[in-house]
Amino acid sequence: MREKKRVFVRGIGSYLPDRVLTNGDMEKIVDTSDEWIVSRTGIRERHIAAANQVTSDLAVEAATAAMNNAGIGVGEVDAIIVTTVTPDVAFPATACFVQQKLGMGNCPCMDMEAGCSGVIYGLELAAGLVQWGRYRNILLVAADKLSSVTDWTDRSTCVLLADGASGFIVGGEGEGAAAELLGNHIAADGSGAEFLWMPAGGSRLPATETTVVERQHFLKMNGKEVFKRAVKGMAAAVDQLFSNCQVTADQMRLFIPHQANLRIIEAIAEYLNLPLERFWTVLQRTGNTSSASVGIAWDDAARKGQLQRGDLLTLVAFGAGLTSGAALLRWMR
Ligand code: UT7
Repeated sequence: MREKKRVFVRGIGSYLPDRVLTNGDMEKIVDTSDEWIVSRTGIRERHIAAANQVTSDLAVEAATAAMNNAGIGVGEVDAIIVTTVTPDVAFPATACFVQQKLGMGNCPCMDMEAGCSGVIYGLELAAGLVQWGRYRNILLVAADKLSSVTDWTDRSTCVLLADGASGFIVGGEGEGAAAELLGNHIAADGSGAEFLWMPAGGSRLPATETTVVERQHFLKMNGKEVFKRAVKGMAAAVDQLFSNCQVTADQMRLFIPHQANLRIIEAIAEYLNLPLERFWTVLQRTGNTSSASVGIAWDDAARKGQLQRGDLLTLVAFGAGLTSGAALLRWMR
C-alpha cells in the first residue's frame, strides 16, 4: 500500500459582492425590525450580488484570490470542485463555467452539493484526490448566490440569506502553505432533507406555471427544526472529529463555525464549555452565505492576524441535507 500523502491548504481567498443590504433596508422590504434580526440571529447586514453576477462569477473572484494566496497560476490547477446549492444552471456543472471564465485548460470539473457544509465536504473530496497521488493542486470553490433563490416576501428566510464565495488550493506541497489538514469528518441525516430545500425545479417537481405561482422555486426552511438539528449536528461532528484525531476543544486556538445564527454558535460554545471569543464570527456583516460561509470566516480570521504559526483550528458546519462536518487544521504561516 502506498503511504497516504499529507494534505495542505496551500492558499485561501474569499469574495463578497459590493452591494450591502442593512437591516434597515430589510425593514423596507418585509415586516421586520433591526431589533428582531439582531436579537434572533446577530446579523446586521449582508452582501447581495448584482443581477448580472452569477455564482460562477463569485467563484472566479474567490478562486483568483486563493490562487494568488497560494502563489500558483491557472496552469498548475489539476481539477476544479465547486460546492454550491445555487449553480449557474441545472447542468452542466458550475465548475465548467469557472474553468471557462478562468481561461483554463482541460482539467476535470465537478460540482458538489452539500449545503452550508460545502467547504468541509469539498475538503474531504479534494484531500482524497490529493492523497490518491494523481492530483497536485485542486481548486476548491464554495460559492452561493442565495439571493437568486430567496423569497423576498418571506421574512422568516430573506433576512438571513446572502451571497459570497470562498476558495482554496488544496495540494500535497507544504512549502509556503497556509495550513495542513489533520483530520476531517463529514456526515448527513437525510431524514431532515425537506427541512431546508427548494421544492421545485428538479425531477420531483419540474417547473410549471403552478410551481411559479406557488413560489416553489425559492428556498424553504423549517427554522426551528433546523436550529435544533444544527446544534446537535455540529456538536456531534466536532465530537467525532476530536475523537478520531485525539485532540480536545481547549487545544484549539479558534473555531470557525458556519455563519448562520449567533445563537447556534453560542450553543456550540456552551456545549464545548469554551468562551464565545474562541469562535470567529463574521455573520454580523455577511449574513448566511451558505457553502461559502466557513471559508469567508476563515479567510477573515487569517487576514486579521487571528492565527499564529502552529495554531490548531476547527472548521465546523451544518446545512441542507441535512449535512454536517468538521475539519481540523494546523495553521502554518
Ligand atoms: O444555513 C443552514 C442552517 N440554517 C440555520 O441554521 C438556521 C436555523 N434557524 C434559525 O436560525 C432560526 O430558527 C430563525 C432565525 C430562522 C428563526 O428564529 P426563531 O427564534 O426560531 O424564530 P421563530 O421562527 O420561532 O419565530 C418567532 C416569531 C414568529 O412570530 P409568532 O408566531 O411568535 O408571532 C415569526 O413569525 O418571529 C416571527 N418572525 C419575524 N419577526 C420579525 C420570523 N421572522 C421574522 C422577521 N422579523 N424577520
